[in-house]
Amino acid sequence: MSTHIAAEPGQIAPIVLFPGDPLRAKWIAETFLENAELYTETRGMLGFTGTWEGHRISVQGSGMGQPSMAIYANELFDSYDVQTIVRVGSCGALTERVKVRDIIIANGASTDSGINRVRFHGLDYAAVADFGLLRAAVEASEAEDLESTVHVGQLFSSDQFYSTRPELTEPFVQHGILGVEMEAAGLYTLAAYYGRRALAICTVSDHIVTGEETTAQEREQTFGDMIRIALRAATA
Ligand code: HPA
Repeated sequence: MSTHIAAEPGQIAPIVLFPGDPLRAKWIAETFLENAELYTETRGMLGFTGTWEGHRISVQGSGMGQPSMAIYANELFDSYDVQTIVRVGSCGALTERVKVRDIIIANGASTDSGINRVRFHGLDYAAVADFGLLRAAVEASEAEDLESTVHVGQLFSSDQFYSTRPELTEPFVQHGILGVEMEAAGLYTLAAYYGRRALAICTVSDHIVTGEETTAQEREQTFGDMIRIALRAATA
């Protein structure tokens, strides 16, 4: 058992899907996995292991924001020898090129967080996805019969959902950033540190420019497309 995950060694699969919301983890396990079993509920941060098309897969809630996510990612990599983590989350669109319900596969993530700045002594680190996973996700999104439009591009991983300085994202948008969420940059950095694979895929739940939002039913449909891409890519 690690500090925040109550699983025995071997109870967590080498491949982990990593939603922010623990109830999403439950929904993914119940909807996509066979024989899913709960291995942790410490602090309500649920984790399940089951199988998908014969592959052992775990789904672990990460909580919101890089500090929470990093607790679980560190323990998954360090205590449970997890090899592949695919974040499956939601993001806000920062450009009109991206619409609500679209899916963004993040080739990299910039951030306003101090988490990487502390790690790199104030210098800037380019937090990028594992290329093999990224390629497999793009191929999966082309092969699957999806309702959603898929983009490949950068996310902005913010420390503040309720930003006090929204204008700070403007230069990032001018340099091609597609959406804002709160975890990808920290996840990519930890995967690089441990020599493991990580990818973040997000569905666009709200639009920062147009103010448009998705309904719960629409979110479920796009969320399903995203999970299919993640499972196919992680097991390719
Ligand atoms: N900001 C940060 N994270 C998010 C957002 C947002 O607007 N939407 C979904 N996750």
